[in-house]
Amino acid sequence: MYAPDPLADVTRLDVRKVTVPEIRARKGGRPLAMVTAYDYTMARLVDEGGADLVLVGDSLGMVVQGLPNTLTVTVDEICYHGRAVARGLRRAHLVGDMPFMSFQVSAEDALRNAGKMLKEGGFESVKLEGGAEVENHVARIVAAGIPVMGHIGLTPQRVHAMGGFKVQGKREDDAERLVRDAQCLEEAGCFALVIEAVPADLAARITDAVSIPTIGIGAGVDCDGQVLVCYDFLGMFRGLRPKFVKRYAELGDAIVETTRRYVDEVGERTFPAPEHSFGRGPAAVKKTA
Ligand code: KIV
Repeated sequence: MYAPDPLADVTRLDVRKVTVPEIRARKGGRPLAMVTAYDYTMARLVDEGGADLVLVGDSLGMVVQGLPNTLTVTVDEICYHGRAVARGLRRAHLVGDMPFMSFQVSAEDALRNAGKMLKEGGFESVKLEGGAEVENHVARIVAAGIPVMGHIGLTPQRVHAMGGFKVQGKREDDAERLVRDAQCLEEAGCFALVIEAVPADLAARITDAVSIPTIGIGAGVDCDGQVLVCYDFLGMFRGLRPKFVKRYAELGDAIVETTRRYVDEVGERTFPAPEHSFGRGPAAVKKTA
């Protein structure tokens, strides 16, 4: 059961969380920066780095669990990672991804699972994939007071239907459908919208067509914000390297190199050095008098 943690307690005076109305107000203003995180240590670091939103994405299936896609991720797994991330955030707004089959079956099911994610995962909003077909489900969740972020374009939970992780909306009829999907999601009450892997001019068109902020990933520079998977922009993920990922660092190489140094020092008995070891101190001096 989720136990509120002092570090994640938004009523603390020294904690100033980014709120949903503030995110909405950033439409057309300074772009929002969203990143994923899956654990406490990473959450603390990206929060300190100034991320406005942190997403516990179902991408955890691929980058944390090493699976080929996101389909097997469960609500309980998202909640487990959510609790850890929530403890690390002081400012960033925390979004939880609704996994495959946690919201598609019925609006009631969607609401039940979204509620569970707030109660047990420590999330402040949920994100779900899909367009007009999930409109009623979004509306039902929003009516219960749970903020919802939409996600259109490349929706990885449809990887098999899409024939792989492919750019969407290249044909004009698909582009028009995506614009209509975005408008439906706004109408249903979404407070923001992820647009993934669509041509930049289409993302700009969608951004103009809605009054909620769009957050792009592989969707060009004209969105109202950007999102990247933490292990991608930090250069740690060794798997798929989509074109839209900018690797701001090569921490993966740094980790391999640093681990080699550690392994060598252990082998050579140069670690631990005296400064990393405990002596017995004054207690070791035998009292004679
Ligand atoms: O699961 C995820 O990390 C996502 C982002 C890439 C938007 O949905």
